[in-house]
Amino acid sequence: MKQKNKKITIVGFGYIGCIIGSYLASQGYCVTGIELNDHIIKSINNGFPPFHEPGLAHLVKAGIDSRRLTITKECDAIKESDVILVTVGSPLNDSGDADLNHLSQALDRIKPYLQKDQLLILKSTLPPGTSRDFVWPQLSNKNLLLAFCPERLAEGRALADLTTLPVIIGGINQEAALAASQFWIEALNVETIIVENTTTAELVKLADNLWVDVNIALGNELAKISDKLNIDVLEVIAAANTLKKNNSNVNILLPSLGVGGYCLTKDPWFLHAMGNRLGIDLKIPAVSRKVNESMPEYSVCLIDRYFQNLSKKSEEISIGVLGLSFKNNTSDCRFTPTKPAIEKLLSLGYTVRIYDPLLTQEDAFSLTGIEMSSSISDCVTNVDCVAYFAGHDEIINFSLENLLRLTNKNALIFDGRRFFNKTEINNIKSLGFTYKGVGRI
Ligand SMILES: NC(=O)c1ccc[n+]([C@@H]2O[C@H](COP(=O)([O-])OP(=O)(O)OC[C@H]3O[C@@H](n4cnc5c(N)ncnc54)[C@H](O)[C@@H]3O)[C@@H](O)[C@H]2O)c1
Repeated sequence: MKQKNKKITIVGFGYIGCIIGSYLASQGYCVTGIELNDHIIKSINNGFPPFHEPGLAHLVKAGIDSRRLTITKECDAIKESDVILVTVGSPLNDSGDADLNHLSQALDRIKPYLQKDQLLILKSTLPPGTSRDFVWPQLSNKNLLLAFCPERLAEGRALADLTTLPVIIGGINQEAALAASQFWIEALNVETIIVENTTTAELVKLADNLWVDVNIALGNELAKISDKLNIDVLEVIAAANTLKKNNSNVNILLPSLGVGGYCLTKDPWFLHAMGNRLGIDLKIPAVSRKVNESMPEYSVCLIDRYFQNLSKKSEEISIGVLGLSFKNNTSDCRFTPTKPAIEKLLSLGYTVRIYDPLLTQEDAFSLTGIEMSSSISDCVTNVDCVAYFAGHDEIINFSLENLLRLTNKNALIFDGRRFFNKTEINNIKSLGFTYKGVGRI
């Protein structure tokens, strides 16, 4: 059978499942998504992704129109599948460890349908040892090829990442690793890196995300120092990052009003919990989490201090918040730092308006309890502060001249994640606004 004729089933058609499944369908594969969420099933069946991701909408539509992409609650398609990908969630439980219930329930559902020699690839982020000690004992009598291949794409640039990042592969044995490698090379045309075993591959994913969280925390702490020193942290970071270390450069990441999303807010805790289980008191994951969790409140204090210095009462100040999702150009609001930041602004007495072009009124309201403005213009008219909490394209493309026309005189432009460059900041100031960013002047 030619590779592109292979049948693929994806168990869990959320962010990751939908992105991978839609892309594979666009490459000619016959893809079935198995999903429990009615909203997702309905949306996909109507030809729409259930969330915003650049480039995804036309893949979903083309997949549904061509019938290469189908979605269902039923598991029957597994019987005929060559490859099964598991992309269910792995959230944090109340004790700060991975909640494996989604994985466990998914395995219970699919087990009766699995066939000999099928390739089963786990993509959900899992604590090291889970594939070998939790999954494989349930499946070893099935004569499957089991591999763990962590998903490392980032929302907002997911399709580009999917088709360029090397895929890490840990097989339950050499045959499984090679089968997974062959599949990814043919499906995505990317480099594959086969590591020793599934546990190694599981730790690779957590290592990557801890690195990101730690390096953002470093950027955030440098921002706090820069605020006190009245210098621009982005200038510090850009210059610091020119230092060569071994084969690459120092790479301090950018500060912002906080780290959100589904992965960075939990994966460091998976490592922390793993350390505890192994009797090792790992310090770094908890520290990076705490630094990054402090940023929404810290950012709001920067805004509050500005108005306090002007002796203005918060009750007289209105703030237009642009962008609610956890990062630029995604509609994902899971654990978005904009939520605690808005709650803090409200608790201090500010009037807050909100707008996010990627969210529905309903989603924005359920996140914040505030009726969303109908447009950027609506959100910033007569405000004393425009707070850029996410820099989606529509928000970035809204001109400063238009802002000037709409906002109150001498409004504060707060840069939580928009990352204005120096020329733009000078322009902001020359137009009569005041500028303040996280670690920026
Ligand atoms: N979102 C990201 O950017 C990202 C990046 C890298 C890795 N990951 C990892 O990928 C995994 C999935 O993340 P996500 O963001 O796609 O989560 P998600 O919650 O958006 O998607 C998971 C989907 O699985 C479905 N599901 C749960 N149990 C099921 C079952 N028994 N049968 C069928 N469907 C079931 C849920 O309804 C949900 O839609 C997680 O482990 C996450 O840590 C996510």
